[in-house]
Amino acid sequence: MTPGPAPSFPGDFLWGAATASYQIEGAGTADGRSESIWDTFSRMPGKVLHGHDGSTACDHYHRYPDDVALMRELNLTAYRFSLAWTRILPDGRTLNRPGLDFYSRLVDELLGAGVTPWLTLYHWDLPQALEDAGGWPERDTALRFVDYAAAVHDALGDRVHYWTTLNEPWCSAFLGYAAGVHAPGRTEPQAALRAAHHLLLGHGLATQELRRRDPSLSLGLTLNFTDTQPLDPASERDQDAARRLDGLANRFFVEPVTLGAYPQDVLADLGDLWPQDLVQDGDLEVISTPIDVLGVNYYATQAVTAGCPPERAPLAAAQARRHDLPSPSVGSEHVAVVRRGIPVSDMGWEISADGLSDLLLRLHKDYTGPLGVRLTVTENGAAMDDVPDATGYVEDRDRVDYLDRHLRAVHEALARGADVNGYFVWSLLDNFEWAWGYTKRFGIVRVDYDTQRRTPKASARWYADVAGSGLIRS
Ligand code: NOJ
Repeated sequence: MTPGPAPSFPGDFLWGAATASYQIEGAGTADGRSESIWDTFSRMPGKVLHGHDGSTACDHYHRYPDDVALMRELNLTAYRFSLAWTRILPDGRTLNRPGLDFYSRLVDELLGAGVTPWLTLYHWDLPQALEDAGGWPERDTALRFVDYAAAVHDALGDRVHYWTTLNEPWCSAFLGYAAGVHAPGRTEPQAALRAAHHLLLGHGLATQELRRRDPSLSLGLTLNFTDTQPLDPASERDQDAARRLDGLANRFFVEPVTLGAYPQDVLADLGDLWPQDLVQDGDLEVISTPIDVLGVNYYATQAVTAGCPPERAPLAAAQARRHDLPSPSVGSEHVAVVRRGIPVSDMGWEISADGLSDLLLRLHKDYTGPLGVRLTVTENGAAMDDVPDATGYVEDRDRVDYLDRHLRAVHEALARGADVNGYFVWSLLDNFEWAWGYTKRFGIVRVDYDTQRRTPKASARWYADVAGSGLIRS
């Protein structure tokens, strides 16, 4: 690894791992849980690789005490998990006590183990009943989300300090409603824009409700950021392609939240696709309700080449982010994300740790720093082509190298002034990787899906040392 003194992190830096309900819980029909859009989507032929679904996943619903014990063994000080709306309000409206009780038990288990719970309300598993009523493109879904947030707060507000409203609303809106590669699988670009606005509105309304209930909570949302570079830095057309993709994927979400306005250049690109009746008076004030923490999910860099006609932008951007098409140039015929031959993870995503330090510094300078909002890396990690030995152990030096480089990048951003208070590796466990089913493994702990046996990989041991010492001494 990199020579020199071991980078040292602040004593109160949070060292965590992250997961999400549909990806790990299983127990698809337990205790009154209803179906989410991901149950429905997984049943649609051809949508999820090999027809996999989350009905069993890592069976975390039943094995959570062992999983929490594992977190403790790995010196984690925090755990980021999401709640299944379908367990708590199965029809989107009626409270299901047994479903909430599961999360209450989980939180108690975490606190008992000295692991700080960090809760995400929405990590993509909308109750199917709410999709049947129109889903996120309908304004009413934002109001239903506030009811859900309040129900969770009633049960967990006394024990959970860190609250994230949404995980990666870009994916919910554009992969779900424009590209159709995530649930609910719709390909309606204008509906995707409506979904994006209502997700942000739901975030703002829920933040207001939670703040009103308890001003001391730490509140925020998590956005996904891809470092986006022009393929040819000297080409104005490539620069413009990068501006558009960065605009729609990154600035379109962070700016309304922190600056109270959608980026004008992105609205201009969208032209007639942007629904004129969408934003109502006062919406942007709600969306920009002060937060405490901006969650940053970062995995990769990408190079973009020209030139997408504005009206195709949402669909093209969603396609581009997929990075999984079989040609070296991916994307639509209008905009291309081009692989440059730099190392990629098993997702085909280009690895760049510098992209993370640049991103944290940019967010701090342009958006969060002036507001006194802190940054947390709520996800970072890599799918790798793991090869277990006979005992199930994986010597994943490639993942250790990825984590090492990215943690050094976080340290560098901290040293240069970015206010970063924690890091969560994605993921604690191998799990259901959405449209990729169980074929991609992001865990620092291997899961044998036949036996549900958990085996910490070399990366887990490495990360435990960092979390326990606050030093990167590999
Ligand atoms: C972001 C998402 O939040 C998570 O659910 C997903 O598994 C990882 N990225 C890896 O793709």
